[in-house]
Amino acid sequence: MRIDLFTLFPELFPPVLGASIVGRARKKGLLQVCCHQLRDFSPDPRGRVDDTVFGGGKGMLLMAEPFARGLDALQEHTGRRPHILYMSPRGPVLTQQRARELAQMPGLAVLCGHYEGVDQRLLDEYQAEEVSIGDYVLTGGELPAAILVDAVSRMLPGVLAGEACFTEESHYGGLLEYPQYTRPEVWRGRAVPSVLLSGHHGDIQAWRQREALRITGQNRPDLLETYRQGHDV
Ligand code: ADE
Repeated sequence: MRIDLFTLFPELFPPVLGASIVGRARKKGLLQVCCHQLRDFSPDPRGRVDDTVFGGGKGMLLMAEPFARGLDALQEHTGRRPHILYMSPRGPVLTQQRARELAQMPGLAVLCGHYEGVDQRLLDEYQAEEVSIGDYVLTGGELPAAILVDAVSRMLPGVLAGEACFTEESHYGGLLEYPQYTRPEVWRGRAVPSVLLSGHHGDIQAWRQREALRITGQNRPDLLETYRQGHDV
């Protein structure tokens, strides 16, 4: 998969997307990430990309044209138009389900806003999908974009060691993950639940399911409610 990022701060991405699992996926050729400096597509000789807001209001807005030129140049270069995302606290919140769907697309272009956001006409013209990473506001779309790239990358075939790496964990099946333990069997007087040492696969599965339900109910009653509607529990 190819992901193109359009941003005023391309230098923010390499440290995050060059290391660990995403970094390895890129080295293996499973994922290609290209960061583009938005100013490079400005029609203004000094690279200006923002202006004041029509109708009044504080702050500056990113103009449509630099993003549009960047997207058009990308389409010219690759020969196809990618699915376009715009990181914004106004969008629907990213879910595991959406990350999985996005991972099936051949290419994504992610637009990072800054200041007060971007001219609405850009989003309308390019049918950009707005994506939020949560109900709080950050200073720009770069960290949200890095989070999106991470969440999508790990769903690509071959990026994680095996399917169980993600099918077993929080959010995949609609529940949060059960507690896990490693050596030693007793740590500071706390013993590992004995069922996990029993070797009895059925009992272990049943315990994990019960714990996943308990933790989801405790931390995210909204998720538990949705899960219950689709399952017989
Ligand atoms: N930009 C600023 N805040 C954001 C958020 N919560 N999600 C996505 N993009 C953002």
